[in-house]
Amino acid sequence: MSRNLEALKLYRNLLKYSKNLQFSDAFFVRRRIREEFEKNLEATEKRAEILIKWGQRSANKIGVGIIRNGEVLSNPRSTFHAPPGEGFRPTETAQHHKQQILRLVQEAIIQAKITNPAKEIDGIAYTKGPGMGAPLQIGAIVARTLCQAWSIPLIPVNHCVGHIEMGRLITGADNPVVLYVSGGNTQVISYSNRKYRIFGETIDIAVGNCLDRFARVLKLDNNPSPGYNIEQLAKNGQKLFDLPYAVKGMDISLSGILSQIEKNAPKLIENGEFSREDLCFSLQETVFAMLIEITERAMAHTGSQELLIVGGVGCNLRLQEMAAAMCSERGAHLFATDERFCIDNGAMIARAGELMLASGLKTEISKSTFTQRYRTDQVNVIWRD
Ligand SMILES: [Fe+2]
Repeated sequence: MSRNLEALKLYRNLLKYSKNLQFSDAFFVRRRIREEFEKNLEATEKRAEILIKWGQRSANKIGVGIIRNGEVLSNPRSTFHAPPGEGFRPTETAQHHKQQILRLVQEAIIQAKITNPAKEIDGIAYTKGPGMGAPLQIGAIVARTLCQAWSIPLIPVNHCVGHIEMGRLITGADNPVVLYVSGGNTQVISYSNRKYRIFGETIDIAVGNCLDRFARVLKLDNNPSPGYNIEQLAKNGQKLFDLPYAVKGMDISLSGILSQIEKNAPKLIENGEFSREDLCFSLQETVFAMLIEITERAMAHTGSQELLIVGGVGCNLRLQEMAAAMCSERGAHLFATDERFCIDNGAMIARAGELMLASGLKTEISKSTFTQRYRTDQVNVIWRD
């Protein structure tokens, strides 16, 4: 059997196997299979020029990722977990990042099999913002230091754009409407004329923040994440507690919903009217329905047949299920990634940096900054047509 036929057979078998995988894994696996197949098919052993970057991130996770021409060579990360019932602690988070970052840099370099960083790494991307000031500062300082040590360019990346570009890379989505849902951001985005335009967003707190804060009321563990623990409880919810449904045009409001459930939960649980599971279920169903509504409206407006979900809350299988139902009704494709790439990671900053550097976007060290507020639509996306 020729090499190409062998590859084709392998490709078909793996595709068949991938259909049995969990929903979020299947997208990733199918893409990897296709890439492997295409690599085998070409069989040219031709190597494009090497581009390697890394990046750090902006809240309770710190990661270092190395990418070469869109291939993730390494992507280690570390998370600061606040005690149960408590939220972010910026100072301790920054302390954690300070303690972990050099180990992560070393680990990333070793995993990527880099022996001479000054020669093999073409640039360093770091998170310019948005995020918490103190953690951002750690990434910026280390990135600036290493750029000077190795005499290579520095690339300031918008965290949200990092999520979008990583999602496009991993799933193969071409020009999707993006639902970006995390602890700090909730936006519906579509690309137009060199900007990632925000079609709709939360007008107060982010959806991840809403879920996390309810997890604090229930004193849920922050490990692996409060949102994940809400999702597990919600799977066993039976009864829907009536919560406000706050869609305002293309925007949503979540703080009133949170106040309502925070105020009522202790009494409802104590008198046995609703269980913790019921309340997690009710909160998820309500806020996810709101997100799907504005996302669908953005897809209808742009005529897009692709939806990409990114950000930490994008791992939530119930949200993915609701998005899949909406997409299938519209004949559209849903693209989602698993927790390796949808939760904050270094490789996503590296990927955006890789695209930016290829377009000549870099900064002088003396002019490099970081900022807590940096909107997705402030970035000039000159690497796209
Ligand atoms: Fe994020």
